Amino acid sequence: MGKKYFIKTFGCQMNFNDSERIRGILRTLGYEPAESWEEADLILLNTCTIREKPDQKVLSHIGEYKKIKERNPNALIAVSGCLAQRAGWELVQKAPAVDIMFSSFNMHQLPELINQAQAGYKAVAILEAPPEDEDAVWDFPTERDNPYCAYVTIIKGCDKNCTYCVVPKTRGKERSRSMYSILEEVKKLVDEGVREIHLLGQNVTAWGKDFERPIPFSELLYEVSKVDGVERIRFTTGHPKDLTDDTVEAMADIPQVCNALHLPFQAGSDRILELMDRKYTKEFYLDRINRLKEAVEDIALSTDIIVGFPTETDEDFEHTLDVVREVEFEQVFSFKYSPRPGTPAAEMEGQVPDEVKTERMSRLLELQKAIMGKLSKRYEGTVQKVLVEEERGEGTLIGRTTTNKWATFKGGRELLGKIVKVRVESASPFNLECELLEVVR
Ligand code: 5AD
Ligand code: SF4
Repeated sequence: MGKKYFIKTFGCQMNFNDSERIRGILRTLGYEPAESWEEADLILLNTCTIREKPDQKVLSHIGEYKKIKERNPNALIAVSGCLAQRAGWELVQKAPAVDIMFSSFNMHQLPELINQAQAGYKAVAILEAPPEDEDAVWDFPTERDNPYCAYVTIIKGCDKNCTYCVVPKTRGKERSRSMYSILEEVKKLVDEGVREIHLLGQNVTAWGKDFERPIPFSELLYEVSKVDGVERIRFTTGHPKDLTDDTVEAMADIPQVCNALHLPFQAGSDRILELMDRKYTKEFYLDRINRLKEAVEDIALSTDIIVGFPTETDEDFEHTLDVVREVEFEQVFSFKYSPRPGTPAAEMEGQVPDEVKTERMSRLLELQKAIMGKLSKRYEGTVQKVLVEEERGEGTLIGRTTTNKWATFKGGRELLGKIVKVRVESASPFNLECELLEVVR
């Protein structure tokens, strides 16, 4: 009987893509996916540590998963990702059931780590910085659930050092993947039937800056669009400061690049932005947004906001609401500020009480709910192009519009993976009820 693995992933899309790569590595080692953790020989938690909550969730999951060892004493528990990188040995001390630990720096060493753990050693490989041979990870395949849309990591790490953020510590400095390696993966994915390529990185818009001969990110967009069979391109996450005019122009110019962008602004007050070391002002951010809206027709914008950063006053917070009102984002991901060990903001005076964060958060959510209701109504009666991704019950298909909205309509399985035109009959913030018009390709 072959061995089985179970992976639980926390955090962002980068982490999901890392898990897809880890699944590919495990397949090359002969592992098959298990239906549930109870059946697995290897349980892996790919962790996040961006806020305190994910940290707690990981620990409680380890508490549950360690019961596997009562039934299957040879079963291994592995912890990878950002919490592993941040906490290191401290985590093994807190959770001795953990056999293997590594981070995004050394996913390619997983085969050796499993061997070590099977021989009875604690296999902990947490490095200070990415190793020289980390690019070996690209030689492994990814294993994906969605056959038509694929993530492709193009840059790792972040050089921005925002004062609240733990990511530069967990993912290291910016390292762009070579154009050649990216295009090779894109070609392979298209050959496997993928139609939508989602370029990923903590800071995608900085791609290419760290090369000996820097290449602008916009050039990568053009090159990806030239790969035969790429129907759609998305990219996340960008930093407003790196969203240059040539990137905006490329978005407008390249038909495959979707009219959607996630552009975190974090806070509206210039004073708070400065304390966060975001390197832009409210005016700069709004100017970028206006430029995008002018250039890219019907662009759908989304953002991240931190509520209750140290010293944030009601007046500061009004500036955040102002930006939300002015931009009209389709989606807002808002987070209460959570102090992260070792970051400058965690040491700042004027930490905001939780009740105040909760109250500001609910005002923000209320405002956003009204905006989402209004924006979704604008879809009614329009014609949208949808990439058909899944059958949900017999004869019902779902897929996403170029603006990243889910659309539901009647149709047969033969349309899976096709781009179709639909008319929106009724719209709510999280779903468009549509009627199928025609198959585009
Ligand atoms: N507290 C709260 N939210 C945070 N984020 C990053 N660090 C923190 C923190 N310490 C949010 C930011 C980022 C998103 C991924 O998580 O909004 O864009
Ligand atoms: Fe979490 Fe950030 Fe790591 Fe993603 S990069 S898993 S959001 S800590």
